[in-house]
Amino acid sequence: MRELLRETADLAADFLESLPDRPVFPRIEVDDLRARLGGPLPDGPTDPAEVVRELAAAGDAGAVAIPSGRYFGFVIGGAVPAALAADWLTSTWDQNAGLYVAGPAAAVVEEVAGAWLADLLRIPRARSFAFVTGTQMAHATAMAAARNHVLAERGWDVEEKGLTGAPRIRVFAGDKVHSTLPRALRLIGLGTGSVVRVAVDGQGRMRGDALRDALATTTGPAIVCAQAGEVNTGSFDPFDEIADAAEEAGAWLHVDGAFGLWAAASTRFAHLTAGAERADSWSTDGHKWLNVPYDSGIVFCARPDAHRRAMSVHADYLVHADEGGPRDQMDWTPEFSRRARGFAVYAAMRSLGRSGIAALVERCCDHATRFAAGIGEVPGVEVLNDVVLNQVLFRFPSDDDTQARLAAVQASGVAWMSGSVWGGRQAIRISVSNWQTTADDIDRTVAAFAAA
Ligand SMILES: Cc1ncc(COP(=O)(O)O)c(C=O)c1O
Repeated sequence: MRELLRETADLAADFLESLPDRPVFPRIEVDDLRARLGGPLPDGPTDPAEVVRELAAAGDAGAVAIPSGRYFGFVIGGAVPAALAADWLTSTWDQNAGLYVAGPAAAVVEEVAGAWLADLLRIPRARSFAFVTGTQMAHATAMAAARNHVLAERGWDVEEKGLTGAPRIRVFAGDKVHSTLPRALRLIGLGTGSVVRVAVDGQGRMRGDALRDALATTTGPAIVCAQAGEVNTGSFDPFDEIADAAEEAGAWLHVDGAFGLWAAASTRFAHLTAGAERADSWSTDGHKWLNVPYDSGIVFCARPDAHRRAMSVHADYLVHADEGGPRDQMDWTPEFSRRARGFAVYAAMRSLGRSGIAALVERCCDHATRFAAGIGEVPGVEVLNDVVLNQVLFRFPSDDDTQARLAAVQASGVAWMSGSVWGGRQAIRISVSNWQTTADDIDRTVAAFAAA
């Protein structure tokens, strides 16, 4: 076993050391990958070292250099060393982090990291939390708690009765709501038909006046979903205005802070999240800006009773902790058995510390500003967003031009980023979320666009 793990560590280090030179997107076709990885299920066993060696060779050929400082796609971070190493330990220990009794250290580390996160992200009202797979499941958890609460206020026990016959809930969200929010509503049975789209401004921020008008159309149970960090522009909703309107309407307020909530970790950027602390629930990710390996999301809730009622589970064969005793994670998560995700988050936070996390956020934002300045000099480029955070959105004069330049840069292997649509036209978006990105990475990427 020790030999196998040593050899695997070397293979992992080889991958990391190849990052400066390998194309950011692999130059391989899907059929080639199928041929390398496919074939019939072997009838008999294969030596584990051989399996790992072959997997590493074939997998490496089809791996995107996501940990590279020149990967700017979607909103994806890398993995800081302590988090990567802690993630290896997580697999090695193989705790089932559903119950305290199946992994006491896993349970306590989540307690500690949950409190650290609420402090760092400036959400003191967050009184319960759960480590989940990502913001998608954080939303599903928060929406289930919200649904529980707003229906309980109207005398409806949704946990027992379900939704048939329940008062209709309306969910108010900005027109640029992230697609994971309506999906969460589908998952919890509210459906996308429950969403009332609220007008946004040119940066994708929900308009407070439009929210007020929309809320005035209902007296029924309501949930308001605000956003810290729009996925294209990085813009922040006006939380205080939104919180005032939600409060007056008696609505539950949720904040999608998948990456934007991390602005709160920096004194330079914390003003962007002002008012977000007034929410009833928040979603964020560890695998984006904290640079924890996939998968890692966190949900927080200001109303632990609603959160727990929506998630808790009991079975005679389980060993549940006593009330007021240790924390059983499965009372707060949608999963039953689960990976001990807290270790990697804990290790990332402990290794970076408060100052290191602030520096990471600020560095990424400064690189985004540098990129916007550089790309703005490339003939024909129009930068479409106010670069307030780590996102840059831009385009070339025509849609064809934009797509062709994006494809050329992707194919060059210098960097990778994705396209988007903004105002009905093709655009390119850059998200600087990786702890390793340097000014040189930014300049090389700008140069790649100029050359394209
Ligand atoms: C604003 C926002 N919300 C939600 C998500 C979904 O996050 P996850 O992929 O962790 O579920 C993203 C992902 O980029 C996002 O940017």
